[in-house]
Order: sequence, then structure tokens, then C-alpha cells
Amino acid sequence: MNVKRADREYLVSDSREDLQVVRSEGSCIFDERGRRYIDFLTGWNVGNFGWGSEEIREAIRNSESPEYIYPRYLYAPWVELARLLADLTPGKLKMSFRATGGTEAVETALQVAMAYTKRGKFVSIEDSYHGNSIATLSIGSSDNKDTFKNLLPNCRKLKPPLDEKAIDRVDKLLKGRDVAALIMEPVILNLGVMIPDKAFMQGLRELCTKYGTLLILDEVATGFGRTGKLFATEHFEIEPDVMTLAKAITGGYAGMGATIVTEEIGEAVREDVSIYSTYGWHPLSVDAAIANLKFIKKNEKRLLGNVAKMSEYFATRLSQMEFKQKVTLNIMGLAIGIGLGDSDDASRLSDKCLKNGLLVTTEGSSLTLFPPLNIDKATAKEGLNILESCL
Ligand SMILES: Cc1ncc(COP(=O)(O)O)c(C=O)c1O
Repeated sequence: MNVKRADREYLVSDSREDLQVVRSEGSCIFDERGRRYIDFLTGWNVGNFGWGSEEIREAIRNSESPEYIYPRYLYAPWVELARLLADLTPGKLKMSFRATGGTEAVETALQVAMAYTKRGKFVSIEDSYHGNSIATLSIGSSDNKDTFKNLLPNCRKLKPPLDEKAIDRVDKLLKGRDVAALIMEPVILNLGVMIPDKAFMQGLRELCTKYGTLLILDEVATGFGRTGKLFATEHFEIEPDVMTLAKAITGGYAGMGATIVTEEIGEAVREDVSIYSTYGWHPLSVDAAIANLKFIKKNEKRLLGNVAKMSEYFATRLSQMEFKQKVTLNIMGLAIGIGLGDSDDASRLSDKCLKNGLLVTTEGSSLTLFPPLNIDKATAKEGLNILESCL
């Protein structure tokens, strides 16, 4: 079978990389010809701890969990997982909603904000991405409205730069006391690893509290160590009211999302936000997530230590490379954005890397690298050498 042709015939997708994956292991992916690729993409922040985690594989292999749990029944591992999340996430975040992935987690967060505040407006960052549903597209890039008419009204967008000066603009957007939530990624991976100023994040937190707007931090992509702390929120020493999680929560072994809120919010919306997610926290996903989170908890210091060390290595190497244009480097932990200033240049470079055995991705005019958090120096070096040879 010609998979490329059949894919085009039977699956709807605007774009597909020319890479047919058959196996993944550690920091590498293998194609159908047995060719090895260094993975600086990790499925876009899914396989944060590399591919082939023994702990997760064993948990799934030895699972004696029931095939399925009806969402209105009790299930002890749901409680165990929710407790683990409450323990790992910052501050007062405690009560979880079950979800199948990131879009559903964000959708739930928006509903929570509307129910809790009895308001209907949202503020988000222009050109950001929070998922595929109509509501999540509404808080995403304003360009979406050209294709999809009648997205949710009353979604206001804040344009970067996200520095101290932007606080006044946030104040103007929130002071009418009619905004249910302000939502953003604490470090915006979807905008080429845009790192907001700490003063901006702290000012934002204060304004949300002042005007009764919930602060939703979307850690679907940044969560579980990517930026050098377990959650990117922690860099700013603030606490959100709601946090959304998915992707690396299971390390890639099964689909899952979670929306975690403070006890005060959870208790207040318990009756009104009744999310029925048929496959939310499926028993196999829960087995994978519990094994993954226990692994993270046990090895947090070592893992984050490696992120710090490798982050420095990537920063040093990248700053020494001779790009053909002036580039901006946005690096936080192992979330790495190389601003090339032109989206065609970024795509061309990404394609060339693929052809030469390195997986990277692009966000607009930035080349983005999201290597595994436990990558060793030899593999990092090999990948960076490929990148350098492609410039
Ligand atoms: C920040 C953020 N939020 C939400 C989503 C949507 O997650 P999912 O694809 O699991 O629905 C994504 C996906 O890339 C994301 O990056």
C-alpha cells in the first residue's frame, strides 16, 4: 500500500509531513525504511520524557483495570490521579474535571468561568491557540473568523508585547467587570515560545483578582517540565484560578486532558458545570497517567536538573550558529523558539532538517524545538549538528 496516497484519499488533513512512523525509542523516531530521526519535537510536547518509558509500559501491560467506567460511577484510580494532580500543580489548585484532551479541557475551563462569574466575555492573546472547538477557536487567532462565521462574540484579544506597559491595556479590557476569564499559555509555545515579562504576569494576576475575572493558565503544552519548572506558571510566582492540562500528562501513551480548579471554584460550579465526557479519563489512560506522574514526582529533581543543563547547552550552541538572517532566541528550559523573521524560511529549514534526520517544527516565522526533557548530551549534539549543517 502506498500510505501517502491512501492517506490523502481517506483522511482529511491540509498538511502531512513526508514521514511514515513505525517505531519510537528514547529521543528517536524510526520510519518504515528503518531510518532514524532525532526527535526535537516529541509529538509537540507529548513525549516529554522520551519514548519507551518502562514505568508506563509496565503499568499498561500489567493493567487489570476494568475496560470502561461509566462516568457517573465511582472509580478509585480517578481519585488517585486527581490527588496526584492536586499535589503536583501549584497553589490552591485541587479539584479536577476529567477530559479526553486539551481542547475539551479548555472548553471546560471556559464553561467553569462563565458559570462561576455569571459573565460571558473572554480575553486572550492575539494569534494564540487553545484547541479546535468553536469556543476554543473563538479565543484563538482572529484570522479564524474568515473561515468560521459566527464564532463566539465578545472574545477580546490582547496584542503582544506582553510587558509591563501592556498592563494598562489589560486594565481597560477588564475594568467593565464583565469578563469571565482571561486565558493564556504562561509561556506561549504556540507563538514561537513567547516569554511574557514577570511584571506583566503579576500585574495580570492582580487585575483579574481586582475585577473578579478568573485567570485560566493553559498548560496543555507547557505542563510537566517543558520550561524547566513542572509548570510554567511557577516562573512567575503566581497562581491561576484554573489550569488546563493534557499532552504530556500520559507521556503519549493514551489520550487525556484535565481542568484543575481551586476548591472554592469547584464547589461553586459543581451543580452548573456537569461535564459528561464519555472517554474522559479512560481506565487505560488513567493507568498511564498515574505511572507517568509517579515517575515525575520521584525523579523531579533529576529531570529538571537535566532540563537546566541541556537548556544551557542548546542556548550556547544556538547562539554560536551562523544563521543566514539575524535571529531571536527564545529559550525557557527545553522550550526553544528561533525567530527567523520569515515563515517561508522557517518551513524551508524545517523541511531540510527532516530530510537530514532531525525533527523540528515551525510556529509562524519561528523554528521551534521541543526535545525530550531527559535527552543526553550526545543526542542533543547530534541533532544540533544536523540543524547547523542545514543552515
Ligand atoms: C496550549 C494548547 N491548548 C490546547 C490545545 C489543544 O489540545 P488537543 O490537541 O489535545 O485538543 C493545544 C494543542 O496543541 C495547545 O497547544
